[in-house]
Order: sequence, then C-alpha cells, then structure tokens
Amino acid sequence: EAQADGFHYYLRARHGETEFYPGQPTATMGLNGSYLGPTLQVRQHEQVHIHVQNDLSEATTLHWHGMDLPAEEDGGPYQIIQPGNAWTARYTVKNPAATCWYHSHMMHQTGRQVYHGLAGLLIVDDEHHRSLPLPRDYGVDDIPLILQDRLFDDQGQLSYPDRMDDHMVGMRGDVMVVNGVISPTFIATTGRVRLRLLNAANARAFTLAFSDGRHFDLIATDLSLIEKPLTLETLMLSPGERAEIVVDTLSTQPFTLVNLPVPSTYQAHFGLLSDLMRELDTQAFDVLTIIPPAAAVPAAPALPAQLNDIDWLPEQDASYHRLIAMQMGEGQGNGGKRGGGPGARRERGGWGGGKHRINGRMMDMNFIEASIVAGTTEIWEITNDSPMMHPFHIHKVHFQILDRNGEPPGEDERGYKDTVRVPPFGRVRVIARFSGESNPHIPFMFHCHILEHEDNGMMGQFVIV
Ligand code: C2O
Ligand code: CU
Ligand code: CU
Repeated sequence: EAQADGFHYYLRARHGETEFYPGQPTATMGLNGSYLGPTLQVRQHEQVHIHVQNDLSEATTLHWHGMDLPAEEDGGPYQIIQPGNAWTARYTVKNPAATCWYHSHMMHQTGRQVYHGLAGLLIVDDEHHRSLPLPRDYGVDDIPLILQDRLFDDQGQLSYPDRMDDHMVGMRGDVMVVNGVISPTFIATTGRVRLRLLNAANARAFTLAFSDGRHFDLIATDLSLIEKPLTLETLMLSPGERAEIVVDTLSTQPFTLVNLPVPSTYQAHFGLLSDLMRELDTQAFDVLTIIPPAAAVPAAPALPAQLNDIDWLPEQDASYHRLIAMQMGEGQGNGGKRGGGPGARRERGGWGGGKHRINGRMMDMNFIEASIVAGTTEIWEITNDSPMMHPFHIHKVHFQILDRNGEPPGEDERGYKDTVRVPPFGRVRVIARFSGESNPHIPFMFHCHILEHEDNGMMGQFVIV
C-alpha cells in the first residue's frame, strides 16, 4: 500500500532481492518493495502529487500508462530521474474509473528495468463506478493480477540476455510470475471476484481462460468500463493491455486461471523467426489457482445490466487521417510507400539498417512525427508490415477501435483503449480526440508495447500544440 499523506504518494525506486524461489535471492528492482511497486489508488478529479525518489544506481523514469495528463508529468523519456535525485509528478486525475499502471520508460532501458520489477498498478475510481454494485473491496473481492513471464538462469537470477532473437521477438520467459509470485493461489472468501488483469510482460501475449471452462464477465477494457457485461470463455491481452473480469468462485474443487496458446490470427505468419515465435506463442501456463470459499457464502447481487455510457466518436469528426507503419527487419516494408494526405512522410530508406521502425524511422528524440492542435480528433491507421503481432500504444489519449483488417473490433474491445493489438501484416484504425494543454516542447510517445521493440526504435513522438 502506498504511504499516502492526503493526496501525496511516495515511491522509492531501489535495488533489492526477491525470493521467487525460497532460499534463492534474485537481484531485482522495485518501488518501495524489492519487486514491483504498491498499487496507487486515486480518484477522478483528485489532485495528486507522486514523489518518486531514485535510489537506484542508474537513471530511470516513471510513466503513468493510460493517464490523461500534461506532457511534463507523463514520466516518459524526457522526465529522467538521475540516481539520488527525485521527481514529483503533479496532476489532476481526469480519467474515469480504470485500471492503469506505471512503469519505467527510460530510453533504451525500459525493457530491462521493467523486467527487473519497475512497474505497479494505478487504479482510478470515480463516482459513477462507486454507484454500481460491482465487487470493489481491494484484496478481498477486487484482486489485481500483474501478469509477467520471466526467465531464470542457473543461479536463479533473471536472465535479460543480449541475444538478437530476444530483441527481435521480445524477451519471453518460461516461468509465469503473478504479482511477483510463482504459482500463486487465491483463497476466495466471496462467491465472485473481480480480477483486474494487467499484461505487464515485456513481450508475451496471454490468452486467458479457466481450467474448467467456466465463463466469466468482462466489465472493463484498458481505460473504461464497457457498456454492458460481456460473457466470455477466453480473453486475449497483449503487453500493456488491461481488462477487468468478474468470475464466479463457487466450485466443488479448486480451479485455475490458465494461459492458452495465442489465437492463430495473432501468431507469427512466416519468416526467419517463425518457428521460435510459434513455439513461444503456443506455450501454455497455469496463472492462478483459485480455492473456492470454504463456507456457504451469500449470493452476490446480479451484475448491473448497464455499466457505462460511451460516446462513440463518429468517423466524420476526424479532421486528420494519420498513417503509422510499424516495421521490423532489414528492408521489409516502408511507411513511405503508403504516404497520403498532407504531412504524410514519403521518404524511402535511409534508416541505416535499424531493425525496428515506425514510418521508416527508428525512434529519434529530435524528430516529431505529429504536431496536433489541441482538441483535434484524428484517425490513426496503424499498419504492421511484419510477420508478428505488435501491441500499439499511444500515450495520454484514450482511443476507440474503429476496425481491424476492415472488420469491426471484437466485443471485448468496445471500450476506451490505449493499447491495441495489430496482427501480423494487419491494419487497425483507431479514433481519438487529442485534447489537453498545448506544449510544443515536450512530446508524448506512441510505440509498440513489446518493450524490446520500443527500446530498439519502434517508437515515435507527437506534441500537442
Ligand atoms: Cu506503457 Cu509508453 O508505455
Ligand atoms: Cu503509456
Ligand atoms: Cu513490436
């Protein structure tokens, strides 16, 4: 729990040791604790001050993923905290109720720092949410699950090797770690629980289901409650995405939340690394064992039929259609060839052998891809010119998905989002209003949320002017 003094929160980034395996200390990084950080719980309209002290021996930043805030508070690659220094993010919470998170966003080091533990949850509550009969007793029937996969070496240390393959496909491990724990068990004391799921893996997508095939209700996407509960059997979450589900815990025996193989439309198509990627994409894991309540529990009230009202942005509201091409591998794909509309970039080549690019260019802090006038609504058409799935994330804005490969998004994506899966050689259109304070000097990021891709160039910048 955060040490809160009014609306002040204190986070201290530090090195530590974590016993993922009993008796075997693993060198990690954490915020306040040795691995991950406390869940910050904030309310809409609150003014928060989050004090971040960097007691690491290296520079870091802390980004508030999903939060709608001014550029200088975003905690991206521009708000660097040197070792021994502190930084305070001050902002008024504009977001509605949602499960957001925070993590390191240090240029070229995000993957390694998050891998070692620099991440945590940031839960937003609001009045509308509090009026709904939803489970919301944190730690009792409202349970956060930070999902990560990790690779341990013979000494029980986290491997974050420099292998080319890991940079290409992203760093994946063969051990499932949930809230920093291997093989966790949850003992339910209520007839149903709400699970706040965060995919905080560096590169792995999870496809979640229950071992006994039981259904569950989706109630929220990345940034909002959805309109009505949606009954599902499986749910896919790519890195950076969140979802909230409600599941019935009544059962005669323990049951398990499991990770299934990635659906085939999201698996690698072909190419040099496809065998490795297919092997990784089809690994199955147990995520969480749930022990049903021991004693008879009172029946939970039905979920509300209506959870939220969403204003769907009509396409005609968009005054700009922006093309964003995600590219990897030598000479494959070129954003320039799809140029169109004023401002679209048309240059070809010239990126010097970089592997991960957006619109032909590796992340360059001196290049601003888009200057967007505050209040403008834009459609971003994101193409994936590569044989693997990339989760595309935009800072600050909450977008709605218009379509994917020309088809409407899944029912499970009909809420506000900040991260969207772009399938191999696929194309996704999203719509968003870019509101907020103008700041031509400090950019926001957009990037692939496979952290090794982000660190290696698949990131770009926009400013609100
Ligand atoms: Cu999770 Cu640039 O962020
Ligand atoms: Cu973000
Ligand atoms: Cu990627």
